[in-house]
Amino acid sequence: MAGAKFITFEGGEGTGKSTQIELLAVALTRAGLSVRTTREPGGSPGAEEIRRLLVTGPPDRWDAMSEALLHFAARRDHLRGVVLPDLEAGHWVLSDRFADSTMAYQGYGHGLGREAIEALHALVVGDFAPDLTLILDLPVELGLERALARRNSEDRYEGLDRAFHERLRQGFREIAGRAPERCALIDASGEVDAVQEAVRACVAARLGVAFP
Ligand code: TMP
Repeated sequence: MAGAKFITFEGGEGTGKSTQIELLAVALTRAGLSVRTTREPGGSPGAEEIRRLLVTGPPDRWDAMSEALLHFAARRDHLRGVVLPDLEAGHWVLSDRFADSTMAYQGYGHGLGREAIEALHALVVGDFAPDLTLILDLPVELGLERALARRNSEDRYEGLDRAFHERLRQGFREIAGRAPERCALIDASGEVDAVQEAVRACVAARLGVAFP
C-alpha cells in the first residue's frame, strides 16, 4: 500500500454519501492511516464561496454551461489548495463528490454531454484522477424521499424534476461501467451498517487496506 490515496464518493440525492464517508474515515483512522475528509462543491475557502452560488436559489439560476464552469472553478481551487497538498503530505483524502458529479449532473442530467465535460476536465484537472471512486446507487424514489426528510436551504438541485434524477442515476451507472478499474457501484438501499460493510470490503480489496 504505497502512498496516500484519494477516494471519492459519488451518487444522486439522498444516497447517504456523507454518513458513509464519515464512517470510512473512522475505520481508516483505526487502521492507522492519517485521513482528511472534504467535499465538493467546496472544501477550500474559495470553493465554499462558489458552493453558495451553486446550491441556493431557483433551479434555473444558471444555464448548464455556466454551472459546469462554476463547478470546475471550485474544483480547481479545491484541488490546488487542499487535495493535492494533503496527498503530498501523506494524508488519505476522502471527498464527498468530485469530477464524476459534473459528468452526471451537468453532462447527463442537464444534457451538456460527455464530450464537453471531458474537454473541460482535461483543461482544468488534467490527468489527475481518484484512486478509487465509490458510487452509491439507489432507486430515485428512495433517494428523493431521504433527501426531502433532511430538507434544508441547500435544496436547489432537489427541486429538479424526476426525469432529471433518473438521467443522473443512469449517468452514474454508465460512468462506473466505463471506468471499472477506478469505480465501484455500491448498492446503497440497505441499512447504514450493511452499506458501510460493502464500502470497507471494496476499499480493502482495491487498495489493500487491512481493517482491524
Ligand atoms: P451535496 O448535496 O452532495 O453537498 O452536493 C451539492 C449539489 O451539487 C448536489 O445536488 C450535486 C451538485 N453537484 C453538481 O451538480 N455538479 C458537481 O460537479 C458537483 C460536485 C455537485
